Amino acid sequence: MENLKKLVRGKKIISVICNQWGDTGKGKFSDYFSCYWADVVARGTGGNNAGHTVILNGKEKVFHILPSGIGHDEKGVISLLGNGMVIDLKVLLEELAEMDAEGMTYKNLMISQDAQVIMPYHISQDLKKNQSQKKGGIGSTGRGIGPCYMDKIARRGIQIGDLYDEKILKEKLKKIQEYYPEEKFNVDVLVERLKPYADKIESYVKDTVAEMHRFREAKKKILLEGAQGLLLSIEHGSYPYVTSSDCSLNGTATGVGLNSKDIDLAIGIVKYPFMTRVGGGPLPTELGGNKSEKYCSEEGHEKEFELKKYEISYEIIEGEIKYDLQDKKIIELMNSKDEFKQGVGIRLAANEYGATTKRPRRTGWTDCVAAKYARNLNGVKMVLTKPDCLNGLEEFKLCFGYKVDGQKSVVKDFSKNKDFLYSVKPVYKTYKGYGDLRKVKEYKKLPTGFKKSIDDFEKFTGAEVIAVSTGPARDDLILR
Ligand code: IMO
Ligand code: MG
Repeated sequence: MENLKKLVRGKKIISVICNQWGDTGKGKFSDYFSCYWADVVARGTGGNNAGHTVILNGKEKVFHILPSGIGHDEKGVISLLGNGMVIDLKVLLEELAEMDAEGMTYKNLMISQDAQVIMPYHISQDLKKNQSQKKGGIGSTGRGIGPCYMDKIARRGIQIGDLYDEKILKEKLKKIQEYYPEEKFNVDVLVERLKPYADKIESYVKDTVAEMHRFREAKKKILLEGAQGLLLSIEHGSYPYVTSSDCSLNGTATGVGLNSKDIDLAIGIVKYPFMTRVGGGPLPTELGGNKSEKYCSEEGHEKEFELKKYEISYEIIEGEIKYDLQDKKIIELMNSKDEFKQGVGIRLAANEYGATTKRPRRTGWTDCVAAKYARNLNGVKMVLTKPDCLNGLEEFKLCFGYKVDGQKSVVKDFSKNKDFLYSVKPVYKTYKGYGDLRKVKEYKKLPTGFKKSIDDFEKFTGAEVIAVSTGPARDDLILR
């Protein structure tokens, strides 16, 4: 706690953003800061494409729309869905109903009147055009995110505030109809369908930008919870294999009505020493390369399939697949000389299956070239997550450069260009495995070789590693 006090001393606005391709542990940190520090927790980008996992009262919980800090509502922490978000009302209400069932409260929830509403026609278009990689899509989550942001940019989107003026809502929907000829939706029927949802959330709908400005003025402690990750940003990610919002630090601040200069402490999360990606697009360090990308895009390769295929025992308890992450067979796979299998081993050891779509996440070694790029956009302070998952690994690698065909010198700078990223070969430095980190509580007690790799990471990227996560629970964290 002393280290935490030092870290947050004098800070009023802290952000937690992913520096990779998502799924780095934003949920855990949102919960951490909401529990120990924040008065307000706000999300500004994306929608239910996100899957943020938290452990609350010993139980795993996944949030898709609500900020993960909402578990601390009872204490008065305000949870805010910002202007930059796209909101599926049905899913939001399901998430709230789940909270009711679990006896959790959300009395301090605020929903931006300016956020966009994801409509059934957005979901239908997304499923048809973007979801299936086999049919040429980018492997979206199929939640209607891209089409909804398209309507926003085209200045015809339905905002939350529009739901409370039937005349305007109908007029806008009538205009939108012509852009969705295949969908043939009936405006009156759709409006009727939206009504009960709109009624249920009405008391939470606010001008959240004005609220944020008041919070800032009143020196409230504000936490910004990023969604997705920098390399998925529409501005800074591996376009077109990206999501449709700017999930960088700047985009996240804009998405709640703040200026990124207001942020006193910007924390970028980096999964280490492995990283993941879901959906299509380049991942230079992918274990098993193209074969892995293709395999992970195909249906039927979910968790249970892999457990069966590699003969790892598991149980299904209350619909959840449970297995020993440290199973001998998983450790064997992780140490396999066959990179594809090694990738499977890491996926199983770290339980890397989509929290939203259940898809297997593609795995590879942490790319320090990309992390350096992230430092230049999202700031120098970084947290490393999930190294504890690779207990039993004999050696690991970090990527410190790219080899480009026909070029002698190693490239040390990132470019988000997809053709470049698909063509490069990573240049690695290899390190010895580091054993069990789960019981380590102080930075200086981390294994020497592991700390040396972090020194190399810092030197190369110019980042400052401020913490290392050693497990999924809130306090499995070493603050430096
Ligand atoms: P969290 O917040 C990882 C990916 C999808 C797809 C691309 C576009 O849990 O880190 P979209 O449905 O957004 O149009 O899909 O972005 N993607 C994510 N990958 N984590 C996420 O969120 C993601 N949200 C979207 O897999 O490749
Ligand atoms: Mg996730």
